[in-house]
Amino acid sequence: MCGIVGYIGRQEAYPIVLEGLRRLEYRGYDSAGVSIMGDVAHTYKSKGDVQHLVAHVGSQPVQGSLGIGHTRWATHGGPSDVNAHPHTSMNGKVVLVHNGIIENFADLRGRLEKRGYSFHSETDTEVLANLIEYIYIYGKLDLPTAVRLALTKVVGAYGICVYSPEEPTTMVAARLGSPLVVGVGDGEYYVASDATPISGYTQNVVMLNEGEIAILTRDSLALKNIKNVDLPVEIKTIDWDVEYTDLGDFEHYMLKEIYEQPRSVADTLRGRVHAATHEITIGGLFSVLPRLRDAKRIIIVACGTSWHAGLVGEYLLEGLARIPVEVEYASEFRYRNPIISSEDIVLAISQSGETADTLAALKLAKSQGALTLGICNVVGSSISRETVAGVYTHAGPEIGVASTKAFTAQVTVLTLMAIKLGQMRGALDSEQYAELVDELLAIPEKIAKILTKNEKIKEIARKCYKAKNALYLGRGVFFPVALEGALKLKEISYIHAEGYPAAEMKHGPIALIDENMPVVVIAGKDRSYEKVVSNIQEVLARKGRVFAIVTEGETEINEMAESCVEIPAAHAAVEALLGVIPLQLLSYHVAVMLGCNVDRPRNLAKSVTVE
Ligand code: AGP
Repeated sequence: MCGIVGYIGRQEAYPIVLEGLRRLEYRGYDSAGVSIMGDVAHTYKSKGDVQHLVAHVGSQPVQGSLGIGHTRWATHGGPSDVNAHPHTSMNGKVVLVHNGIIENFADLRGRLEKRGYSFHSETDTEVLANLIEYIYIYGKLDLPTAVRLALTKVVGAYGICVYSPEEPTTMVAARLGSPLVVGVGDGEYYVASDATPISGYTQNVVMLNEGEIAILTRDSLALKNIKNVDLPVEIKTIDWDVEYTDLGDFEHYMLKEIYEQPRSVADTLRGRVHAATHEITIGGLFSVLPRLRDAKRIIIVACGTSWHAGLVGEYLLEGLARIPVEVEYASEFRYRNPIISSEDIVLAISQSGETADTLAALKLAKSQGALTLGICNVVGSSISRETVAGVYTHAGPEIGVASTKAFTAQVTVLTLMAIKLGQMRGALDSEQYAELVDELLAIPEKIAKILTKNEKIKEIARKCYKAKNALYLGRGVFFPVALEGALKLKEISYIHAEGYPAAEMKHGPIALIDENMPVVVIAGKDRSYEKVVSNIQEVLARKGRVFAIVTEGETEINEMAESCVEIPAAHAAVEALLGVIPLQLLSYHVAVMLGCNVDRPRNLAKSVTVE
C-alpha cells in the first residue's frame, strides 16, 4: 500500500526522504516521488521503483531541508509518472502526498472545474491538492488553516503530508483512516505512514489519532483537530531497533524473518510465562479476564494469514478453554448484518493493525455493544487503539509482504490465551496446564531445529518448483496450516495452490490429482494419523506426488512419500507453530527458483488500508 515520508529540520531532506522511501518499499508500490523545498520546489516522480526515481532525479539539484516523498499503490488511475505523488496544485501553491481514498473526489473535482481548475492526473489526490490551494488563495489563509478547512469537505480516508512553497518553513500532516506517525528529533521532525522510515533517527514519536492535524516547523509541533481545537502532544518512545530493517547476511527479508522465529516466538512469550511457576500473565488482557472467563462466544475477525491464525485459535480456544469460537473474514462479517450482542467478544487479529476491513469489522462490533479485543504486531496501530484491550505480538517489524513471523507470533498469543482461559474456566487440570505451558516454552528451540533442515526443504522445492498447481492437506490445526502453506506459495511464486482438510480431498479436489500435482501433506501423530495415511494412499493411487511434513521418527509416511521433512514431536495444541515453518521455507525456495520478487510480490501490499 502507499507510503508517506516527510522531513523538516536542519539536514538535507532528500537523502532522508529517499532512505524512508526505500524502507517503505516492503509495503508494495508501483511508482514513487519526492518533492524538496529549496529555493523553489523540486518535484520528481516516476512509475517504477525507488531506484528508477533516483535515476530520474539524476544529478539535478535537490537541496533543501523540507521534503516529502511517496510510494504509490494505484487506486484511482493506473501506475504512471503523472499519477505518481507528490501532486502539485494548479498554481503551484500546494504540494501533497496522500494515502487512502477521497470518496467524493468526482464531486469535488466537478466543483473545482467550474471555478477554473484543470487536472493532469486521474487521481483523487490532485483534487485534494487543488481544493487546499483554492481555499488557501481565495480565503487568504495560512496553509494549516486551508488544509483543515479542505479536510472538512472530504469524504473518505486519508493520511496526508503537505507543504506550500509560499510558506517554506511549515509542513502539515493529517490523518483520517490512514495511519501517520510523527518522529520527534532535535530541531527536526519526521512524518511517515509507519515507524520504519523513522527508526534509526529517533525513538520519540507521536502517533496521530483519527482526525488529527499536525503543524510542523523545525522547532515546533502543534496538534489540532478538524474543528481547530488545540490538542495535547503525547510523545511515546518506541523500542523497535534498526536491526530489524537490515538484511544482514540474508538475501531476502522473508528468509530473515523465517529465521527470526525462534527469537520472535520467545519475544512473544517473554514476560508472559513464568517458567518455574507456569503462571501465565497477559498484561494487556488483565482488565477483561473476568469477561473472557465467562465468555459465551468469541468471534475472531481477520484477513489473510491473520485469518488462518484465527482458525488455529478456534481449535485451541474451543479445545483447551471450551469457549465457542467463530472465525470470520472481516470483509464478509461487516457486510452481512451479523448478529452481535453485548455478550459477545470480538477479537481482531492483524499484524499491521491497519487492515481496513478488520478495522471496519471491529468498529461495527463495537457499535453493537460487543467487547472488542485485538492481537496486533504494530504498537500504536489503529486496531490496537480501537480495541478495549489486547495483546501485542512483539514479533518486531515484518518487512516481507508474505507474513511469516507475524503468523507464529499470533498463534503463540492465541495459545497462551487458550491455556490461560482453559485453566481459569476449569477446562484444564493443573497437570494438563503445566504440560501445555512447558510445550509452549519449548517451541523456540524446536523451530530452530526445523530451520536446520533448510537444505532438505530446498531439495523438495527443486522437485516441484515447475508445477502449475499444488494441493496442501492437513487435519486439525494442520488444516489452517495447510491453508497458510498454500497462501504463501500463491503469494510469492504465483503457483496456484489450495489448502484443504485432508478428508475433504475425496469430495472434489481428488479430481485434480495426476502425476504433475504435488500434494503437500502435514501429518501429526494424533488420532487422525491413520486417516491421513489413507488420504496419502488415495493420492498415490492416482499417481500424485506426495511431500510430507511428519513427526520425527515416523516411518509409514516416510516410506510412502517422495520426500519428507521431520518436525520435532510436540503436543497437538502447539504443533501448528512447527508445521508451518517448512511450508514457509518451501514457498520461499520455490519463489527464488522461479526468479520471483520474494519480498515484494506483484500486486500485493503489506498493509491493506483500502476496503
Ligand atoms: C500474508 O502473507 C498476507 N500478505 C496477507 O494475507 C495479510 O495477512 C492480510 O492482508 C492481513 O494483514 P494484517 O495481518 O496486517 O491485518
